[in-house]
Amino acid sequence: MALLETHDLVAFYGDFQALYGIDTYVDEGETVAIIGANGAGKSTFLHNITGLHAGAGEAVQFDGRPVGHLPAAEIVKLGIALVPEGRRLFPSLSVEENLLIGAYGQKKTGHWTLETIFELFPVLRQLRRSPATSLSGGQQQMVAFGRALISNPRLLLCDEVSLGLAPTVIKDIYEALPVIKESGASIMLVEQDVQRALGVADRVYCFMEGRVTLSGHPSEFDHATIRSAYFGT
Ligand SMILES: Nc1ncnc2c1ncn2[C@@H]1O[C@H](COP(=O)(O)OP(=O)(O)O)[C@@H](O)[C@H]1O
Ligand SMILES: [Mg+2]
Repeated sequence: MALLETHDLVAFYGDFQALYGIDTYVDEGETVAIIGANGAGKSTFLHNITGLHAGAGEAVQFDGRPVGHLPAAEIVKLGIALVPEGRRLFPSLSVEENLLIGAYGQKKTGHWTLETIFELFPVLRQLRRSPATSLSGGQQQMVAFGRALISNPRLLLCDEVSLGLAPTVIKDIYEALPVIKESGASIMLVEQDVQRALGVADRVYCFMEGRVTLSGHPSEFDHATIRSAYFGT
């Protein structure tokens, strides 16, 4: 049984259909990448899994039970955490306060604590009392990761974590992924940077205009196949 499964997942914004029957799964311990152009439906997909976009019903199963009807706070308690697109930190709160918000109301314990997050991203230890707004984009992204990890999720969803960051900073962020995987979490990574996603993923799905256009192991695909699935050309 997969840890996460979506079956025929559809999503609407009013009359506009954003997802057309998405079938995916993530096995325990896997790192799965979702690639696709702007507007392909990647964030909508993650929001359906995390309860931020209501109405997924039976189409999303986590650990063998439907979760599509649950509110976001319940989903976190079950062990799904999101590193959202654009990071969405609380600007007036300190680094440490932002991290602790991720643990608020959670009973689950595990590998991830303030201490282990500071080991993963040492720069955050020095900045722990600083307001989130005073941080660089890369440092803010580290806080967003830490805030998700501190709930000790079984599945970590990451939405375009490299967007707008310098290559050296992206490298630092991506080097954290194997450590997170080692801690026992499964990872679903949404990315527009195809090469980077394929470099870390065990499996990949490509989305285009609300549909899965390609799925399988990164080694199965050549450039032309990926280009066609990504751009439809
Ligand atoms: N709140 C919203 N209201 C209406 N349409 C939306 C909303 N959010 C996203 N969309 C539309 O849904 C489609 C998928 O968007 P999104 O999931 O954000 O794509 P991606 O994350 O792959 O860039 C796009 O056509 C986008 O314009
Ligand atoms: Mg998006």
